[in-house]
Amino acid sequence: MSLLSTSLLGTQFTNPLLNASGVWCRDKVELDALNASQAGSFVTKSCTLEPRTGNPEPRYFSTPMGSINSMGLPNEGYQYYLDYASQHDYSHKPLFLSLAGLSVADNLKMIEAISKANLPAVVELNLSCPNVPGKPQIAYDFDAMQTMLEAVTQQYDKPFGVKMPPYFDFAHFDAAAKILNSFPQVAFLTCINSIGNALVIDTESESVVIKPKNGFGGIGGDYVLPTALANVNAFYQRCPDKRIIGCGGVKTGEQVFQHILAGATLVQVGTELHEEGPGVFARLLTEVTALLERKGYKSIEEARGKLRTL
Ligand code: SIN
Repeated sequence: MSLLSTSLLGTQFTNPLLNASGVWCRDKVELDALNASQAGSFVTKSCTLEPRTGNPEPRYFSTPMGSINSMGLPNEGYQYYLDYASQHDYSHKPLFLSLAGLSVADNLKMIEAISKANLPAVVELNLSCPNVPGKPQIAYDFDAMQTMLEAVTQQYDKPFGVKMPPYFDFAHFDAAAKILNSFPQVAFLTCINSIGNALVIDTESESVVIKPKNGFGGIGGDYVLPTALANVNAFYQRCPDKRIIGCGGVKTGEQVFQHILAGATLVQVGTELHEEGPGVFARLLTEVTALLERKGYKSIEEARGKLRTL
């Protein structure tokens, strides 16, 4: 076993890094670039039943501390990603398929097709998109989350994961974990999606910086690292039978290591991938390798969840 290799759902990963769904994964050109990159796996753009153009532009804005976006799920429709997944060489690299149906029925239709295709692709069900006007984040409505998971687990018999929004209160960590733990088929949690409905203001123009939702959008990057680490660790502690995929604020190998200490098995990169392109993975791997070696670790598994408290 090499220093960075890890496993999830019985699949081996050469390293823990992958893109956050939504970044560099909308079409074949971008997905092929991830496949060719040093990322250990990759995930497709969260898809809907039908293709979507998404929200009006500008809908993504970089700031010195990260990013704000309100993309609105622009995607090619699930069949496009299913076709991509059916042509993918899984012996080269594992692939996740991200689903963000606009209703229970839409998710069930996509799940039915994925089930029939019987591919090694692993489903990440997005319960946390903050950017579709009129569609609240499912995982902020615990009854809706329960209903969605009941429906999906009745239709689908493979293990899958869920992309979670950030929570900010222990009562919500507890309530969400209770629901998630009642579905053994939910094998992993991706924590976190962007912190939804933030507002970035440009002082000179006295204006918002993105057009949709009057400037409200999900933030990522430096803004979210401590919240992401908290959510990774909160669910790592509360969901001992599930794996956690960390997502949020990863800019250097140090933050990859911090996610692993908090309990992450895999680590996604969003804002920094958008800034730097798929070359970011090689840099992060070099940095996290140097850090692990300096600290005397023989594998990342040794570090996972080993966060100390005072
Ligand atoms: C988007 O397309 O608006 C982003 C998706 C997400 O945050 O889940």
